Amino acid sequence: MSSHLLSSKLSSMSESATIKMAQKARELKSQSVDVISLSLGEPDFDTPDFIKEAAKQALDKGMTKYTPVPGLLELRQSICDKLKRDNKLNYTPKEIVVSNGAKQCIANVCLSLLDPNDEVIIFTPYWVSYFEIVKFAGGSPVPVYAGIEQDYKVIPAQLKEAINDNTKLIIYSSPSNPTGSVYTEAEIAALAEVIKTKPDLYVLSDEIYEYITFNAKNPSIASMPGMQERTILVNGMSKGFAMTGWRLGYLAAPQWIAAACAKVQGQFTSGATAFGQAAAAIALQHDPSALDYMKEKFLERKNLVKKMLEDIPGMRVNDPQGAFYFFPNISSFFGKTNGTRRIDDADEFVDVLLDEAHVAVVTGSAFGDKNSFRISYATSNEVLIEAMTRIKRVLATYS
Ligand SMILES: Cc1ncc(COP(=O)(O)O)c(C=O)c1O
Repeated sequence: MSSHLLSSKLSSMSESATIKMAQKARELKSQSVDVISLSLGEPDFDTPDFIKEAAKQALDKGMTKYTPVPGLLELRQSICDKLKRDNKLNYTPKEIVVSNGAKQCIANVCLSLLDPNDEVIIFTPYWVSYFEIVKFAGGSPVPVYAGIEQDYKVIPAQLKEAINDNTKLIIYSSPSNPTGSVYTEAEIAALAEVIKTKPDLYVLSDEIYEYITFNAKNPSIASMPGMQERTILVNGMSKGFAMTGWRLGYLAAPQWIAAACAKVQGQFTSGATAFGQAAAAIALQHDPSALDYMKEKFLERKNLVKKMLEDIPGMRVNDPQGAFYFFPNISSFFGKTNGTRRIDDADEFVDVLLDEAHVAVVTGSAFGDKNSFRISYATSNEVLIEAMTRIKRVLATYS
């Protein structure tokens, strides 16, 4: 093994806990164990046919060549039109960069903006990759934690307290992965007021779950007065359009930041897949209500899982208003034993669920919260009912 030759940057990077859990589940499955996986953050729907058709037509038209690094002009214009239609925001194509997924957008931003002493406030529980990308880009992640008693949402006083002269960027997602929480307009406005007190402080607003919300309005922080010039809005095709495998995301930002991101991307990967971009342009031009069937299904599943989780003694759940996750607080199980095994933390809790209930979920520690675990409910009602029944049965053996 020559692993000592790997860069120190890589050695300090954590492996993705979601991918690790999926792997463990696959291993058990290969031994013919009937494992239910609720660990991946991926809609179970197929990409809508009209989008697939658009990609086929683009291929037939010969869209198989390199594209401009920041994306096809036609797609960037469609993104501007979408931001105007859905978010009442005015952008020009020069302020848009299309990348291989929102993940690459976030990496481009961090690589463009961060120097060694720069601190990045990350609302916690956070999406796993924020932390690792910030570190890899040379910045210092500063988690600001909000527990279940505040619906996992950071309040202005906490943000104010965490900001110092070195703070350069704030990153959060709303709707949130892993908690499903959605910041209201008033909450976003109050956070914006704090952000505006410091010059040269920017926000990366990850809006990838924008189309998966229940009852809640989820305005972009970019639409708050004076915030557009401080915001890097990240969104993409993966979740709302069920296009995870297409690898298409985009950002909208002040032109100097967009140009910097395009510069980074020009050296790493160039423009995203040509025919995929053509199809994404068609998808974004379409009336988003055509996607409501997915949202309705997610809401039905959310209600089902919430009821079943609340039926398990000791499980504390919030009422997520978006995305397709639950993030129950399980601290009341710590110290419990079934006679041979003891649950001391969230890591052990998820191992118990995998080994004894054969249900794969993800430990909260991967998201910066040691008291919780994440369930993805992007699967059928039958599978969810079976998984919840198994979880309840196993946990009943611990006291
Ligand atoms: C909050 C959040 N941001 C970004 C991403 C990455 O999206 P993409 O598939 O566009 O890279 C995910 C995917 O799980 C996510 O949950």
